Amino acid sequence: MEDERLVSKTVLPQEERVETALRPKFLSEYIGQEQAKEKLDIFIEAARQRGESLDHTLLSGPPGLGKTTLANIIANEMHVNMRVTSGPAIERPGDLASLLTNLEENDVLFIDEIHRIPRTVEEILYPAMEDFALDIIVGKGPSARSLRLDLNHFTLIGATTRAGQLSSPLRDRFGVLLNLKLYDVDSLRDILLRSSEILNIPLSSKGALEIAKRSRGTPRIANRLLKRIRDFAEVCKDGLIDEEVAREGLKMLDVDAYGLDDLDRRILRTMILDFEGRPVGIDTIAATIGEERITIEDVYEPYLLQINFIQRTPRGRVATRAAYDHLGIPYRKEEL
Ligand code: ADE
Repeated sequence: MEDERLVSKTVLPQEERVETALRPKFLSEYIGQEQAKEKLDIFIEAARQRGESLDHTLLSGPPGLGKTTLANIIANEMHVNMRVTSGPAIERPGDLASLLTNLEENDVLFIDEIHRIPRTVEEILYPAMEDFALDIIVGKGPSARSLRLDLNHFTLIGATTRAGQLSSPLRDRFGVLLNLKLYDVDSLRDILLRSSEILNIPLSSKGALEIAKRSRGTPRIANRLLKRIRDFAEVCKDGLIDEEVAREGLKMLDVDAYGLDDLDRRILRTMILDFEGRPVGIDTIAATIGEERITIEDVYEPYLLQINFIQRTPRGRVATRAAYDHLGIPYRKEEL
């Protein structure tokens, strides 16, 4: 199960409280994602100066990068409340209607996994986003009438791992599109140092760097590893996490030098050994290792691409020399 893995990008239930404590509340505390931050800073300031709601904002990118955190920050910076729901939770148009009618002026409505809202619900969203209005049908049969109800102005923040799966009418109604990228190692190190202060964990800068390198570009994974290595440092060492303790702890946790887990390695081995290094389609990889295509595309592939272990070609994915070297498999390019 994806959820039970140490490098899983979904929130584990027992983690929720600590995650909340670690979440930055304002843009100035938020580390990394410089492009997104810069744009948001300007749009928030402009909306604030005009006393208006922020334009509807779509946050996309792999799981664990802080989409919910950013939505919270937006609400805080705009001094408004945020209501939270998710695409699959809104089953009927009435569910959305009641959420919308309960929003106060300029509030934020956060819809996680917005690509999963039902079509019938999506249609209610269009006039709500565009005209801040709710079209409801009153009565049945020939006497049915359409009634337009005005809503307070609000900001819809949609989060999705799959911006491409959004219908274009929905996509087009977002004024701000922000794509979050995997974090670089330096940003992750700074996030870990910040977390260690909040949680009172003795962590050296080099220790933080070592954990950062193996966190798959994902703050949620970095923070999770930090907590597990703290256990190791407290029980088996004197509590301080320096470079050496971080390394030993990571080894104990079975996290390799790039933070790859068993499934990453299976993906790479399948590409290299079963398909002998030839380009392979994502569906073929998924079928061979018995995983969902979506999981591979959203959770595994972005990181393997980032560290340049695989490349996309028009004919499919190929493993790079770096992947062969990492797995200790001889690279024989001439046979490809
Ligand atoms: N904790 C998790 N993500 C973070 C971020 N981007 N900045 C600061 N702290 C974080």
